[in-house]
Amino acid sequence: MDPNGKVALVTGAGLRVGRALALALGDAGCRVAVHYGRSETDAQETASLIQSMGSQAVTIQADLEDATQVAALAAAVEDQLGPIEILVNNASIFDKVGLDDVSIENWDRHFAINVRAPFLLAQAMQSQLTSDSPGKIISLNDWRTARPTRFAYGVTKTAVSGLTRTLALSMAPNVQANEISLGAILPPSDIPTDRPRNEIEIDLGPADRMGSLNEVADAMMMLIKNDFITGETVNVDGGRHIQ
Ligand SMILES: NC(=O)c1ccc[n+]([C@@H]2O[C@H](COP(=O)([O-])OP(=O)(O)OC[C@H]3O[C@@H](n4cnc5c(N)ncnc54)[C@H](OP(=O)(O)O)[C@@H]3O)[C@@H](O)[C@H]2O)c1
Repeated sequence: MDPNGKVALVTGAGLRVGRALALALGDAGCRVAVHYGRSETDAQETASLIQSMGSQAVTIQADLEDATQVAALAAAVEDQLGPIEILVNNASIFDKVGLDDVSIENWDRHFAINVRAPFLLAQAMQSQLTSDSPGKIISLNDWRTARPTRFAYGVTKTAVSGLTRTLALSMAPNVQANEISLGAILPPSDIPTDRPRNEIEIDLGPADRMGSLNEVADAMMMLIKNDFITGETVNVDGGRHIQ
């Protein structure tokens, strides 16, 4: 796929990884829908940065826990920019809750945001695209999905892998669905930024360093440009998953 001029939706694109991915898409000439939940000012800043590169960008708010708002998000992208051709499922929640205290509400919330929203957006994308239009779905995952300390998060990220592979089959041959599984890129957003990095438990891989946002964006752009990779997991984790 040539990304230039394509309509891309990035969820949770106000800051952190999502912003970096939205900027890379804008830099490649995509028309970018910058989705946000609460980070309105940050999302507007992401959109301004894309516009300053000469690409089109709009901001769209939606609470991904609410299926009606997810449907409205997909419809708003189509209305404002056109059918979604590149879907980047970046937004997620990552609560520090283990097996002993994970509640039904917390479990359901993780599934709604981390799995159901990507599924509904893919379904909407399928209905927006004509049968021969090319498309790309890229979902952000984690090098480690079995996480006792973040129980529901880990289970939902395993489900994202299943979703990726099932979408790859369901949307073939024109749409490719892949995931990028990250190692340590940024400290978790629930850890205060004033805590020194060496006090935070960060699981580095053989690379022995954090990954950069550019390295994540490069992997995404590779998956967008390559039409013969689908149902695949690209680990951007400095080799952590093989250690
Ligand atoms: N950071 C890392 O090193 C790392 C490592 C492994 C995997 N990952 C994966 O990479 C992706 C991005 O990571 P990150 O650390 O940048 O993520 P993050 O900061 O924890 O969250 C990204 C965004 O998700 C959005 N979001 C959460 N709940 C929402 C809701 N109910 N409705 C709408 N938006 C919602 C938030 O948007 P608003 O702020 O607008 O509400 C938030 O800014 C995630 O899928 C994560 O699992 C990251």
